Amino acid sequence: MEKIVIKGGKKLKGEVDISLAKNSVLPIIVASILSPNEIIIKNTPVLEDVTVLVNLLKDLNCEVDFSHETGELKLNTANLQPISSNSDLIRKMRASFLIMGPMLARFGSCKISLPGGCNIGSRPIDLHLKGFKLLGAEIEIGHGFIEAKAKKLKGNRIYLDFPSVGATENLLMAAVFAEGTTIIENAAEEPEIWDLGNFLNSMGAKIEGAGLGRITIEGVESLKGIEYKPIYDRIEAGTFMVAAAITDSIITINGVNEEHLRPTIEKLKECGVKIQVNGDSMIVDGTGKKKPVDIKTLPYPGFPTDMQPQMMSLLSLIEGSSVITETVFENRFMHVAELVRMGASIKIDGRTAILDGVSNLTGCEVKATDLRAGAAMILAGLVAHGETEIGELYHIDRGYTNIEEKFRKLGADIYRVDK
Ligand code: EPZ
Repeated sequence: MEKIVIKGGKKLKGEVDISLAKNSVLPIIVASILSPNEIIIKNTPVLEDVTVLVNLLKDLNCEVDFSHETGELKLNTANLQPISSNSDLIRKMRASFLIMGPMLARFGSCKISLPGGCNIGSRPIDLHLKGFKLLGAEIEIGHGFIEAKAKKLKGNRIYLDFPSVGATENLLMAAVFAEGTTIIENAAEEPEIWDLGNFLNSMGAKIEGAGLGRITIEGVESLKGIEYKPIYDRIEAGTFMVAAAITDSIITINGVNEEHLRPTIEKLKECGVKIQVNGDSMIVDGTGKKKPVDIKTLPYPGFPTDMQPQMMSLLSLIEGSSVITETVFENRFMHVAELVRMGASIKIDGRTAILDGVSNLTGCEVKATDLRAGAAMILAGLVAHGETEIGELYHIDRGYTNIEEKFRKLGADIYRVDK
């Protein structure tokens, strides 16, 4: 089984290039279903989640040409078949549930297996279904499958009880061809929503306010093929910012958007990290004394839940008491037990973790319990005394491209081995 092995204590230096955003690329790949013409996505990160989604589209007769060298991903869904119920890839990767909106918009029907939950939460889809029904779809659930049907979706006003990223994306795509006007209120405002809206508008959609709390979609007849380059991955960039902080190093990160990183930049500055942004690059100086801080994860523009585990690794080593409150997912503290194995002093009380900073962590065998928890283990391993061995790497490979190579280029003693 593959493991990542890290010998802690090395300082980092040099530059790292950030990949394009996984959480933009996934909905954009699915949105290609909305046009029968060729879509070209540039610099697509080679990730497990991308491969699973591309294979799902291939299963449905989409022509796919993905060059891992250049990252150019060509998709042609001219001969796409309506999804058949034999595809249980949805269970393998939740984000593929996003296929429902565009399939409903294009074919008027879609039958897929119900997405499972995952380690960080039950991941319900009630807001997705509420929106589809308001657009006129009939929904049937049974035997582990969900089927949606609608001769022609009709525009409507949809209020999301929670600004769900996935529900916003699914409904945005479903509404593109709906008759009349659709308004999504209390929509997610994550930068990846803006990116999806920008992608769809480049194809000829009529969307206003994507990335803001209220999105208006005027239905159109069809969308054309385009070439598109998604935004940079603000969570990968944030992960490397924390790496500079936790190893007391200075590094340059290329491929950043200051606005998208605002919550992470402000929180790390509060910690005592010096950050200088120059266009789409930033210099992160983590060499100064650090202070404990409190974090509360919130939908964007609040502090991102996807940066919570990484910050926990850093705060576990900052003298004093820090409090982390996870308000987005109900079970996103599984990395706490792994950090405690390494010597961290963390207590959990419901959705709150109270950290008492320790002077050092010690390397040992740990596991990635979800995608970002895996990144948190790498960060802890970079500074732990001795050797840290991380298992269950498939979580990490879902969302990070060649992460150990990127850290090795910065000077970390980190290798992937088959054990
Ligand atoms: C997206 O997941 C991201 N995934 C997640 O990133 C990210 O953590 C999350 O948004 C929040 O920012 C992708 O973009 C592929 P949500 P998503 O719907 O869309 C509740 C990573 O590490 N909810 O905003 O599934 C839900 O239970 C991953 O890259 C409902 O109640 O997130 C959760 O508590 C992890 N009903 C909250 O909303 C619904 O119908 C946030 O979920 C839908 C969601």
